[in-house]
Parts: sequence; C-alpha cells; structure tokens
Amino acid sequence: MTIRLDKWICDNLNKTRKEAKDYIKANNIVVDGVRIKDSDYKFDPYASEITINGKSITSKPEYTYIILNKPAGYVSANSDNVHKTVFELLPKEYKDYSIVGRLDIDTEGLMLITNDGALNHKITSPKHHFDKTYFIRTDSPCNEDDVKKVETGFDYGEEKPSLPGRLNILSTEENDCTAEITIHEGKFHQVKKMMHTLGHEVIYLKRLSMGPITLPESLNTGEWRLLNEEEIKSIEEYNV
Ligand code: URA
Repeated sequence: MTIRLDKWICDNLNKTRKEAKDYIKANNIVVDGVRIKDSDYKFDPYASEITINGKSITSKPEYTYIILNKPAGYVSANSDNVHKTVFELLPKEYKDYSIVGRLDIDTEGLMLITNDGALNHKITSPKHHFDKTYFIRTDSPCNEDDVKKVETGFDYGEEKPSLPGRLNILSTEENDCTAEITIHEGKFHQVKKMMHTLGHEVIYLKRLSMGPITLPESLNTGEWRLLNEEEIKSIEEYNV
C-alpha cells in the first residue's frame, strides 16, 4: 500500500500536514536511495528503505481495521461490569482499539474497530458525510409522509433537525414495516428517535453500511475479519 510522504511524516513523526511539508524541505529524506523533496511523493513504507539525515527510520506498525457483524446483546464498549462487550468477540490483542460509531446493545450489524485514530475521526466526523444505512423493522405501517420527512429532515427532539436522509420502504402492513433508512449523522439512538417521532417504534435495527463499506453477506452474526486493502483504500479516498 502506498502513502504520501507528508502523510507518512505526520503519522510517524507526529507532525501536522504543514509541519511535515516544511520538514521535508528542511531535511535530507532519502527513499530507496533517492533524495525526495516532494510532499506528495508516494511510496510503500513497508517495502522501502527510508533514511532521514542518514539515519534509518522504521515505519510504525501498520494500522489494523476490523469489520465485525455485531450481534444483539453486546455493548459497544472496551469493558463493562454487567454486559458482554463487542471486544469479547475479538482476540485479546485488539482489546484497546476504538469502535468507529457505536451501536446500541440491541442493534446488530456492521461495526468497524481500529487503532487508526485519524481514520476513525474521518468516518465519524459529519464533515466527511459517511452515510450510514440501517435495515429497520417497526411496529406500525410506514407511509409516504414518513419518506418525505426523512428526505427533507425534521425535528426529532435534538438540538438540530435531522439532515436530509432517505427512507426506502420495503414492505408495510398493519403492524409492521420493513425499510432501509440512510442518515448522515450518527447521534445517540438517532434512528430509534427519528422513527419514534414519526410514530413508529423500532423493534429490530441492523447497520448495513457506512460510507463505502457494506456488511459482507459472508460475515455471519458474531463473525469478524480484517478489512482488505481495497476496502481501506475506499475509506481513505472517500470524499463526498
Ligand atoms: N440509531 C439507533 O437508534 N441505534 C443504533 O444503534 C444506531 C443508530
């Protein structure tokens, strides 16, 4: 996997993007025998030899990105005195990693877990518009009025109204509606609160996607795997 030199400097020498650019100009950085002065020079930090002012530098360990199909009954926390935590589904080496967008104890589905703070911030910060799509089942029929309200955004009891989203009704009957809802923010209990405001209680909730990452059908409830390079790249390059 290639990375820009200035990003590598930020990650490995704890510098801001601006400081990294100045650092590149002011220091003798050699990658695979070639003096590099361009901040946007791309290289594979795990396959290249890097020296700074003649001193060899080893890249920090690679970041790890986990995708988990969260089952109901597990809390989104590193530890909990009462409930099982999602980290109990993973090997111990990941116990201090961070959850990217928590899910309620009774919510299932796509959960990302990583030790990459910058990427975590990118996914959860509203600035980058990582849409989240959920499958929902409610206790009452949904209608076109609900679709319109979700589409325009509405007051659901929070400080600000919801941003325009999408409600795609899959089936609706007297005591039941199934739908996919896409929201832009990730406020606490947001989907449940929005549906409650529209007069429906959510009785089942499952996250299906976050930005470019979709829950793979091959990942059964409770199973996890590492994100592959293509998936990581799709997050890094995602910019709506
Ligand atoms: N919205 C909710 O209400 N709960 C979740 O777990 C996720 C989104």
